[in-house]
Amino acid sequence: MPRDGVDFASNDYLGLAGSPRMIAAVRAALDRGVPVGAAASRLLRGNEPEQETFEAEAAAFFGAEAALGFGGGYVANFAALSTLPQRGDLILMDDLSHASTHEGARAGRAQVASFQHNDVQHAVDRIAAWRKDGGRGAVWLSVESLYSMDGDVAPLDDLAAVADEEGFLLVDEAHATGVFGPEGRGLAHHLEGRENVVTLHTLGKALGGSGALVCGARALIDFLVNRARPFIFATAPSPLMAAAGREALTILRDEPERREALQSRIALFGSELARRLPQLRPSGSQIVPLIVGGDAETMQLAEAVQARGFDLRGIRPPTVPQGTARLRVSLTLNASEDDIRRLVETLEDLWPAS
Ligand SMILES: Cc1ncc(COP(=O)(O)O)c(C=O)c1O
Repeated sequence: MPRDGVDFASNDYLGLAGSPRMIAAVRAALDRGVPVGAAASRLLRGNEPEQETFEAEAAAFFGAEAALGFGGGYVANFAALSTLPQRGDLILMDDLSHASTHEGARAGRAQVASFQHNDVQHAVDRIAAWRKDGGRGAVWLSVESLYSMDGDVAPLDDLAAVADEEGFLLVDEAHATGVFGPEGRGLAHHLEGRENVVTLHTLGKALGGSGALVCGARALIDFLVNRARPFIFATAPSPLMAAAGREALTILRDEPERREALQSRIALFGSELARRLPQLRPSGSQIVPLIVGGDAETMQLAEAVQARGFDLRGIRPPTVPQGTARLRVSLTLNASEDDIRRLVETLEDLWPAS
């Protein structure tokens, strides 16, 4: 599907992907000799200084002891979930966690179970049942801070309290990085630096580049360096993406107005929805699922909205649960306030009568 229409579909939340500052930063990096490719695995000849500098700066920015870069969030989640939990441990995942965490968990040696979305009591009950059955190892709770298809947030403090009793908390900040928290440090910013908390920050969404960072205690990061197969047996990410990432973190610090503008758009979309389509609820974040229900109905509606000049995508099972096919509205600085008003007006016009 081509990239036509006003952007209500990308994860370029702060409009950084094509921004002059990011472009200039990559040009400047090339001019000072940063190579396009790393040309080898990090453990061989691919350990570019630009990547190491970026990781040190990112660890300081997010408040973690150490950070390790990967080529993308998918592979970073896969590496963390398949490598850190050990035989005898339990990985307990939120039902709506991203596919990459499920794949990683399945590829590792720990037992895997899930709990109902955002239901901490259910997680506690599952752990109790596992312990009763003789489970002795650590529990690794795996959640997203801001869910990619529902736009709702995890009860991170309650989950961290459970992790303090039982083991570790892995937080995928993919959609919160750059958008929420002081300076865009994410929804788990206050938990960073704890020994039993590992976070994932992707570079391909609000930060406008590509790649990801796993952040956590030095011992855990060192363990990944030595054991994570997707780290060891892969060419290191492009050093240019490290340069882009460094600039993105600087922009987060220098230009809080980007985050503020996005918050205004979130509020505007919510109020327009309340005015024109009160049966639909805003999520409170930049990701707003407009649940239609049926798959065919959703895709037809998406096409009709696209024909009016908006890039808005329908999402169907298996990406989301059966019967919850939806239009996933992604609010970014690439769509103006006027675009938002026109989109909601169009949705009002096309929304199926109930
Ligand atoms: C919650 C979540 N985690 C991880 C990823 C994977 O990140 P990446 O696209 O950088 O591979 C995505 C998205 O695509 C995501 O939505």
